[in-house]
Amino acid sequence: MANINWSELGFGYMKTNANVRCEYHNGAWGKLELHTEETINMHMAATCLHYAQEAFEGLKAFRGKDGKIRVFRIDENAKRLESTCKGICMPLLPEGAFKEAVVMAVKANAEFVPPYESGASLYIRPVLFGFTPQIGVNPAKDYMFIVFTSPVGPYFKGGFATNPYLITRRYDRSAPLGTGVYKVGGNYAASLAAHEEAHAQGYSSEFYLDAKEKKYIDECGAANFFGIKNNTYVTPKSTSILPSITNKSLMQLAEDMGMKVERRPIPVDELPTFEEAGACGTAAVISPIERLDDRDNNVSYVFSKDGKPGPVCTKLYHKLRAIQYGDEPDTHGWITIVE
Ligand code: PLP
Ligand code: COI
Repeated sequence: MANINWSELGFGYMKTNANVRCEYHNGAWGKLELHTEETINMHMAATCLHYAQEAFEGLKAFRGKDGKIRVFRIDENAKRLESTCKGICMPLLPEGAFKEAVVMAVKANAEFVPPYESGASLYIRPVLFGFTPQIGVNPAKDYMFIVFTSPVGPYFKGGFATNPYLITRRYDRSAPLGTGVYKVGGNYAASLAAHEEAHAQGYSSEFYLDAKEKKYIDECGAANFFGIKNNTYVTPKSTSILPSITNKSLMQLAEDMGMKVERRPIPVDELPTFEEAGACGTAAVISPIERLDDRDNNVSYVFSKDGKPGPVCTKLYHKLRAIQYGDEPDTHGWITIVE
């Protein structure tokens, strides 16, 4: 095991042993290769730098009590990357290559998968981009796929604790028919100013409404939203949010727990009716929402009166973590064990 103070880890980059790379030239992908170099040498006219032809993914590996390493839902991330590649005209990886690359990266960096007791994990960041030197706005002819890893702790300080969010009407992270459903860097560039503004005012993150009418809930920064009421898990259906794999998993777990699940447009007016609410994502896991402030209208939607996570968020969080760390059986086939 690497000599790291695991329980002090935040959500940041740390050098590990190796990354996995693969290049696409003349219409075909090459072989997956292990590299120890952290940098890439790229032409200044590369398409990804100018026209943001770039996609990324995020998933995690966990070390169980039994010492085994488990990666959560690789196939779902592979599918989402395919969808993103189609969305911004990039070539798809060969069948199975995504999973193979992730497993290869985890194996090469096994000593950086944090110990079970730390509650930390190994974040896996696949990235795929076009890098042909050109100045015309066209898809590149050459691409690179890289998978690197970094041990991480909680995305928000304090781990599983409630956080305040700020509704923004001054920014959209994506348009209704734009790239919000894809995991492309441009969406995150579009979110930075809103994020900085929210942070400066003491919020964990900005909160987006639908771009067209500002009437419906979209996303909580880099995480999906869910609300809980009357034994029902409600989450937005929208053409401008990222289809979160954590959210998809929580919908299944909620159903397993006997809850109703609704995926539909959620009007802002419905916010006061939720008993609990949360933000969910690979990095955030579940981050229960303490309150959602609408400063334009002097309204604060409070989802936790005592500042503590509510009972349903807590139950879902523990269930998800138990599956990820191997404390409970993987009844849905979500886990890949890396030997
Ligand atoms: N929404 C956005 C904008 C994100 O960046 C992420 C993070 O990946 C999510 C939602 C959560 O998705 P997932 O649960 O697949 O990590
Ligand atoms: C994730 O949850 O994996 C993300 O990608 C969120 C953020 C770090 C961009």
